Amino acid sequence: MTPLHAPFPMTRFRRSRQTPGIRALAQENTLTAGDLIWPVFVREGDGVAREDIPSMPGVQRQTVDAVVESAREAADLGIPAICLFPYTPMDKRTKDCAEAWNPDNLSNRATRAIKAAVPGLAVMTDVALDPYNIDGHDGFVVDGEILNDETVEALVKQTLSQAEAGADIIGPSDMMDGRIGAMRRALEGAGHKNVMILSYAAKYASAFYGPFRDAVGATGALKGDKATYQTNPGNSDEALRLVARDLSEGADWVMVKPGMPYLDICRRVKDNFGVPTFAYQVSGEYAMIKGAGLNGWIDGDKAMAESLLSFKRAGCDGILTYFAPDMARALAAG
Ligand code: PBG
Repeated sequence: MTPLHAPFPMTRFRRSRQTPGIRALAQENTLTAGDLIWPVFVREGDGVAREDIPSMPGVQRQTVDAVVESAREAADLGIPAICLFPYTPMDKRTKDCAEAWNPDNLSNRATRAIKAAVPGLAVMTDVALDPYNIDGHDGFVVDGEILNDETVEALVKQTLSQAEAGADIIGPSDMMDGRIGAMRRALEGAGHKNVMILSYAAKYASAFYGPFRDAVGATGALKGDKATYQTNPGNSDEALRLVARDLSEGADWVMVKPGMPYLDICRRVKDNFGVPTFAYQVSGEYAMIKGAGLNGWIDGDKAMAESLLSFKRAGCDGILTYFAPDMARALAAG
């Protein structure tokens, strides 16, 4: 669609930009707190303790008690969901990753505590083996190979333990083939009819995950890269095939990750499928904006708001972002 315009001066675009009110009337896309999912890092420990993550200024690892406080804060700010990432103690990381489906692991304890205290807030949990794996990879590693089918079996156990703990949204971030169908069948089989799957369908092998790997303590362990399971940043059609595959296996919603370098993928996914589409503004994107803002190189608050609005413009229905509480507070302040 190419709209017709009378030639200048009958058409003057600046007429529609005269005042804040006129600009608001003509604005095509808006961001609200209801568009945000807040990823948080959970750690062991008693009381309301928080621990800084140097490569993510302003983001902390929080004890279960602290996460419950954050969940209350999120609900008060109108943020609909929180997403949990555990910092598993090093002595619980093993070759067989059994802690991933321990009913009492950190993620499951945090889920139960949040659902007891703030039942209206949706809890999203992460399905992948990297926080539990001595090898730092999302799947089992045998002789240097990341095994697919054996990993999927483990991911199903992890999924069921998260659903049992009360997770509302399961977020498989592992990029193994066939996992969505296996997880959906297991959820239905166990009676978890209403548990949603938000598939990290188009997750790229990205350098922008660096600070996250620091946050969950996977940086040191990880040998090599994740290029045999995460998507090649040079590909775009492949993202559509991945999304089609995951939808056909029973995903409710799909995600593109990282966010800002992949806005073109968000738009293609939304246009092609018309399903609820999410982007993950990942740790490295957060670090760039926050770091430059703290150094006075850019206006950090304005860059945050502009970056998040860009996801709406690209067709996303929601965004996972570490900025969620800051952005929601800024929106509430007007
Ligand atoms: C791993 C996982 C990663 C992120 C979420 N889940 C990192 C990776 O794939 O290495 C990245 C999130 C971020 O960078 O903020 N299962």
